[in-house]
Amino acid sequence: MLSFKKSDLYIENVKLSNIAKEYGTSTYVYSKQRIIGNFKAYKDGLGAKEGLICFACKTNSNGAILKILAGLGAGADTVSGGEIYRCLKAGFESSKIVYAGVGKTAEEIEYALKNKIFMFNVESFEELDGIDKIAGKLKTKANIAFRINPYVNPDTHSYIVTGKKGTKFGIPYEDAINAYLTAKKKKNINVMGIHTHIGSQILETAPFKIAAQKIKKIVDEVEKNGIRISYIDCGGGLGIKYEWEKVPSPKQLMSKIFPVFDKDKKFIFEPGRSIIGDAGHLLAKVLYRKMSGGKSFLVTDAGMNDLIRPTLYDAYHQIIPVKKTKAKKVKSDVVGPICESGDFIGRDRMLPIIERGEYLLIVCAGAYGATMSSEYNSRPLIAEVLVDDKEVILIRKRAIYKDLTLNEIA
Ligand code: LLP
Repeated sequence: MLSFKKSDLYIENVKLSNIAKEYGTSTYVYSKQRIIGNFKAYKDGLGAKEGLICFACKTNSNGAILKILAGLGAGADTVSGGEIYRCLKAGFESSKIVYAGVGKTAEEIEYALKNKIFMFNVESFEELDGIDKIAGKLKTKANIAFRINPYVNPDTHSYIVTGKKGTKFGIPYEDAINAYLTAKKKKNINVMGIHTHIGSQILETAPFKIAAQKIKKIVDEVEKNGIRISYIDCGGGLGIKYEWEKVPSPKQLMSKIFPVFDKDKKFIFEPGRSIIGDAGHLLAKVLYRKMSGGKSFLVTDAGMNDLIRPTLYDAYHQIIPVKKTKAKKVKSDVVGPICESGDFIGRDRMLPIIERGEYLLIVCAGAYGATMSSEYNSRPLIAEVLVDDKEVILIRKRAIYKDLTLNEIA
């Protein structure tokens, strides 16, 4: 949804420099059409199969974006009481909310039960025990799946591998059957399915297929013990193109997974990045240019507090001036204003010599951008806008200094 018209970069049918002038910088900018298109690709992939596409709202939990997805019939993948709250507020049906996470508190479990979410993706025996007790106290039954760690190690950044042996996630593969047998004995637990999530920004279908095959073995064994598994929750994890990556489509991914299981199974997918990643970008202004130690620096008003992915994962985000120029290109580091040498958006980038006050677009920052931002260095959280064709809608106001101390007691 990004395109140059003459020398100006547009998102849908809006000139990005106009957004910068009207809403200030730095600002997250999202394309509604791209969100819809990305979600539809999952829906189409599912085809006639019964199932749910649950948006992983940790990637982006802005209410306006959640509302779009809820309106399209999406479910939600949540990992905290706060996410469940946001999703309910945005209009997701509670019967389409799944809830994972290794550290669910008693309060969160109670909140989820009272709101009748679809199912808990349970990550330990102790958690199962806790959910059973709380459900008993509330005189209700908890629907659960076990999140099984399948011991699959996809090729991605080590911080975002979750399905490898030795990570904190899920029930260890060898304990899976025992987990189901334990659940069978619990009075307030209703087994619905099985869940796995092997990692994020995965560019091949093979590790998903291997995980599915390992999960299938568990399903067979569990069903032999008289426990019915109706839902196969395959997690999220499909990558996007940040630079050179060639990514499989949701349909290609599903075509590897569906044949592994019996025909009557229902499926859940929990995509996050592949729904919102390339639908959102960070618009920033060049504050200063400087040379230091023989290097060229562009200092922007977007810092690691606004987008931490380059700092945390050495992630690559394309950086493009929103106005095409024929100016000579020089190798530059694009950095933020934060007092840390790790505060960079991109390093050693060939960028045209651009002036102070000009705007840059940091591309594909829609996933894990705004949600991972902070007020570090006492920088108020930035604005977010949604573009729909020619219309720009403010979906989060830029915070002000007063917001920084709002909850402090001094
Ligand atoms: N389901 C579960 C249980 C998850 O833990 C995750 C992501 C997802 C679904 C969504 O995965 P996706 O489709 O977005 O790959 N902050 C990191 C990524 C952390 C991923 C955490 N889990 C980043 O910026 O790359």
